[in-house]
Amino acid sequence: MKRIVILTGAGMSVESGLATFRGGNGLWDNLPVEQIATPEGYRANPSLVLDFYNKRRRELLTVEPNDGHRLVASLEEKFSVTVVTQNVDDLHERAGSTHVIHLHGELMKACSSREPQNLDYVFTLPSADTDLKLGDLAADGSQLRPFIVWFGEAVPRMDDAIEALAGVDAFAIIGTSLNVYPAASLLSFVPRSIPVYLIDPNEVTVNSNRSIVAIRKGASEGMRVLIDEYLNKME
Ligand code: APR
Repeated sequence: MKRIVILTGAGMSVESGLATFRGGNGLWDNLPVEQIATPEGYRANPSLVLDFYNKRRRELLTVEPNDGHRLVASLEEKFSVTVVTQNVDDLHERAGSTHVIHLHGELMKACSSREPQNLDYVFTLPSADTDLKLGDLAADGSQLRPFIVWFGEAVPRMDDAIEALAGVDAFAIIGTSLNVYPAASLLSFVPRSIPVYLIDPNEVTVNSNRSIVAIRKGASEGMRVLIDEYLNKME
């Protein structure tokens, strides 16, 4: 079976109704990133941060995967697929993708604020009550916090993402501005002989001189082109 690795970002979930971060009316265009997406911001005002992620978690329960997520999941019928996502939503999984690596954490999960990456203390919040409040404690007795990788924190799953590239036959990038590292550096680990496809309705500045097939469309339409014009024709 041919192997495909797909790096996705917020643009993947636009058609599901979730906002992106940059480029006009994105989350970071309208909110104080330092206050709500850094460990310093959390320490300074934990209830503001808990509330921000509570709101995003409640919103996530109201949206569905889009055709783009479903087409990515359908690739598993013919290919060995790993999705490396920067997204913290669970829409890839809900669409049926079975091998998803979340580089920036998972919105539906909570963790210890003392040892955020200790998976012994990570668990999925019940959909009946997804809010995290001050006083909700992890098994290590520390305050529960969102299982999100904030700016300045380590990205432990990057190693798994790089390992997933072993023997890759095609690499696709969908719905990311490639602004954030180390996620954006994943491309540099793709052997130069491997075809790279980039699906995005806008121009994306790629920090690489390798040739990339740009599919200037949204995630769903772009996935249809990727499958029909390229992946189904791979020898
Ligand atoms: N289909 C596909 N891509 C789209 C669509 C769409 N319908 N609409 C917009 N896009 C593209 C935009 O053109 C842009 O290139 O999605 C990309 C979104 O870029 P960002 O908002 O920067 O989001 P992302 O690249 O995922 O951000 C990376 O930054 O703040 C951190 O942790 C956060 O994971 C996030 C990381």
